[in-house]
Amino acid sequence: MSNEAKAPKARKLVIALDGPAASGKGTLARKLAQAFDLAHLDTGALYRAVAAIVLRAGINETDEDAVVLAVGQIGATKIEENELRSTAVGRVASVVAAMPKVRAALLDYQRNFAASPPDDKEGAVLDGRDIGTVVCPAADVKFFVTASVEERARRRHAELQSRGERITYEAVLAELRDRDARDCNRAQAPLRQAEDAVLLDTTELDIETAFRQAVDIIARRKGLGVSASPARP
Ligand code: DC
Repeated sequence: MSNEAKAPKARKLVIALDGPAASGKGTLARKLAQAFDLAHLDTGALYRAVAAIVLRAGINETDEDAVVLAVGQIGATKIEENELRSTAVGRVASVVAAMPKVRAALLDYQRNFAASPPDDKEGAVLDGRDIGTVVCPAADVKFFVTASVEERARRRHAELQSRGERITYEAVLAELRDRDARDCNRAQAPLRQAEDAVLLDTTELDIETAFRQAVDIIARRKGLGVSASPARP
């Protein structure tokens, strides 16, 4: 290797959002990506895609070696939004997400996305469970987005109903409690707030207010101006 000085690579802006299911982190991540003109990766969708492939193929969801093979099929499989967001896929996603081989197989893709965002973007927003703790521990700004489980169940129930899935509020609440327990108590990359993450509790905060708070924090930390209108719905 030569000792020639290389021009330093431009630092990309990386924003990490973690939090439990239906906390509002996905909506917030999309809005932040738009406001700061960054690429966005919904990392939960990767685990959901694995789960959808597992369910379609009738793979035993507890067979780690069989499940990890599904990771290689993500790019080649078309999965409709309704299927990806279904309760069944969400449940299996949190089961397969506890598997170390599955997490390892998805890690490079997520890190590469943050380091080299698509479409020549100057940075990326990633949302998930372990972005600030494992995937991008050096992220420029980290948020931990949460809300009470009852409020999250109310939101998820409304979303599922609007998608035509017939399910009671009580069933959604029970499912979220199960999912929280699995996501928080697994051995690998459990859901937890990174020490340097800013807590955003959206229980009584509408998404627009949460968004404005997040924009202010990012802009203040990075000395950035926001070019896009943050008020866009
Ligand atoms: O955010 P979501 O509900 O779409 O995520 C589905 C599941 O994927 C969730 O129960 C846990 C898992 N997940 C994870 O373990 N790590 C991530 N970075 C994102 C999601």
